This record gives sequence, C-alpha cells and structure tokens, in this order.
Amino acid sequence: MKALILVGGFGTRLRPLTLSVPKPLVDFANKPMILHQIEALKAIGVTEVVLAINYQPKIMQNFLKEFEKKLDIKITCSQETEPLGTAGPLALARDILRDDSGEPFFVLNSDVICDYPLKEMIEFHKSHGGEASIMVTKVDEPSKYGVVVMEEATGRVEKFIEKPKVFVGNKINAGIYLLNPSVLDRIQLRPTSIEKEVFPSIAAEKKLHAMVLPGFWMDIGQPRDYITGLRLYLDSLRKISSPDLAGGHHILGNVLIDESAVIGDGCLIGPDVAIGPGCIIESGVRLSRCSIMRGVRVKNHACISSSIVGWHSTVGRWARVENMSILGEDVHVGDEVYSNGGVVLPHKEIKSSILEPQIVM
Ligand code: GDD
Ligand code: MG
Repeated sequence: MKALILVGGFGTRLRPLTLSVPKPLVDFANKPMILHQIEALKAIGVTEVVLAINYQPKIMQNFLKEFEKKLDIKITCSQETEPLGTAGPLALARDILRDDSGEPFFVLNSDVICDYPLKEMIEFHKSHGGEASIMVTKVDEPSKYGVVVMEEATGRVEKFIEKPKVFVGNKINAGIYLLNPSVLDRIQLRPTSIEKEVFPSIAAEKKLHAMVLPGFWMDIGQPRDYITGLRLYLDSLRKISSPDLAGGHHILGNVLIDESAVIGDGCLIGPDVAIGPGCIIESGVRLSRCSIMRGVRVKNHACISSSIVGWHSTVGRWARVENMSILGEDVHVGDEVYSNGGVVLPHKEIKSSILEPQIVM
C-alpha cells in the first residue's frame, strides 16, 4: 500500500518555529510531527510514502534520507514548482500512487495528531464500497475546519463544506483519507483544493463515506492547539501504560523526557511536558504544559508554563516564560527576564521582560 502526506504550506501559524524547519519537521512530543505519521503508516503495512512538498525542499530531502534507512520504508519526494493546494499534489504524484495493484492509498495532512486508526479505516473503506473514505471528528469550533454532514447510520457524506461561515454541524474533516485510484481521474494538475473541489463532487455522487475517528485528535498547526495536542497525546500514552512516560517524585502527571536529557535536583515537572534530546534542566526548575525542544538549557529556578521553547535555546536563572510564549530556535532569555506570551524569532537575545503578548523580531 502507498500513502501521500501533504507537507506543503508555509506553516505561518506556527512561526517562529517554521522559520527554522518546514512545519512537518517541527518536533512534537520529541520527534518531528511527520515521523508520528510515517511510523503509523509503516505499522499497518504501507511500503511507500510520497511527501508532497513545495517549501524548503532541501531540508526535507536530507531528512528523508535519514529516516528512510531508520524506518525501512521507501520515501519519495514529489516536488511542486508552485503550490498546488491540497489536491493538485495528488495529480502530480499520479504515476506513483496508481499502480498495478489497484489498491486504495492514504492521504494525510501533515499536521494532524491522533492514534491513527488506519487499520480500522481500511476495514471501513472495504465495507462501504464507495470511492473515498475520510476520517471525521467532533470539535467545539468547527468553523476553522472542513465540516461534514453525514447520514449517521451509514456514514455516507451528504455535504462537505470547507471552513463554513455559518454553523452546519460539528463533525469535521480530520485530514486523513483513503482513496481509490479512480479519485485521481477527478483531479487536474493545477492548484486545486481537495476540500473545496474534489470532496463536494464525490459527495454529490454519494461515493464519499466518513468514519468517526475513535480517540483523540488535534490539528497542531497553531501554538495553542499544539499545546492542547501535547496534553491529549500524553493522555493517550498514559492509557496504553506507555513505558516512555517519566516517573518519580519530581514528576506531576504525564511527562515525556528523552533519555539523553539531564534533569537537576529539586525540579518539579508536569503535567503535560515534553523534554527533548540533549536538554539540560538545571536545579529547582518548574515546567508545566510545555514543549522543550532538543538541546535547550533551562537554568536554575526558571519557570516555564504553557509555552514552546525552540531548539538550542536557553532560559536564564529565575526567568519566567509563560502564556503561549514561543521561543524560536537559538533564543536566549536572560536571567530574571519575564516573558508573557512573547513570540521570539530565532537567534535573538532577550534582555528585558516582555510584559504583553507580542512578536519580538
Ligand atoms: N504539497 C502541498 N502543497 N501541501 C499543501 C499545500 C500545497 O500547496 N497547501 C497546504 N498543504 C498541506 C499542509 O502542509 C497541511 O498538511 C495540509 O495540506 C492542510 O493544510 P492546512 O493549511 O494545515 O489546512 P487547514 O488546517 O486550514 O485545514 C485542513 O485541515 C483540517 C484538519 O486539520 C483541511 O483539510 C480541513 O478540511 C481540515 O478540517
Ligand atoms: Mg492544518
């Protein structure tokens, strides 16, 4: 079986992290977002993944080489010369996706995180015999997503409306599809949207079916959702009693600490924290609801909450970083500095406090 992951888009909503790497390579729970997906695809027997890219291709290609070997799966790059939207990339990769087997293929948005019930999705797809299956989930704020109106009993989709202005329902497109090769005949090689053009027309022919996704789901393409997604992901690890979760008297709730990270004395860490490889957390540090990426140093008695600290940054002694502060790569926050929602571009030194949420260039 094959899969295509949509990894284009500029990831503007996740700046400043996406100023350093394309969105799919931003770490989530200590590994690049896209690895969560590639591992899930590999686990159900996908043998080739096509990455549909249009942004920072060199970085993606280098990443590819490394993980092709590590995961023992074929990864191909399909490079757009102009952004082709969410459907055009399927037309561009037509020859790879359509093979002699005639099997359906998966398409994934690169920024969604869940338990990837892909096996169940294959069963569902077989059971309805339609042309396309999509995964849907319930959310409180459906207007930022593609909304699906479906026949509850059968799962047949009656309408697909991308980012509706008025309320039509709370079941939304989770960004995970299983498509028959015939869907490729519906897509022209030009910038085009699967949500606005392809799904509505398959739905009109009654050939689009939706499966309600079991378990948690989050689009982690925005900082607040990223932090929420981390909580849900760690909760889900807890449910399966994952040995990866940290334990000990200095840990509160669900915490993921890479084995190469060093944690000082007298820290209190958690809930909902991920500490990446090579991090040094000095003594007396307080961390909650935050992601600390690879190579970060947090100095004595600093306090970080509801924030993301980008790769190789440092947070000074007695510093306080909170309220959706997002520090880009290689940012240095001085001793005793306070950041209230500061969004700091890469390679900056912060010497005075950021008292109100703002972008620091
Ligand atoms: N290759 C390529 N080329 N990929 C693209 C392009 C492009 O021109 N534009 C966007 N993408 C990729 C993004 O990287 C992402 O993985 C996916 O397509 C969806 O784009 P987003 O920008 O993240 O869309 P969204 O979050 O606003 O909405 C989409 O996802 C929601 C679920 O998270 C839609 O599919 C909604 O219907 C859906 O509910
Ligand atoms: Mg998205």
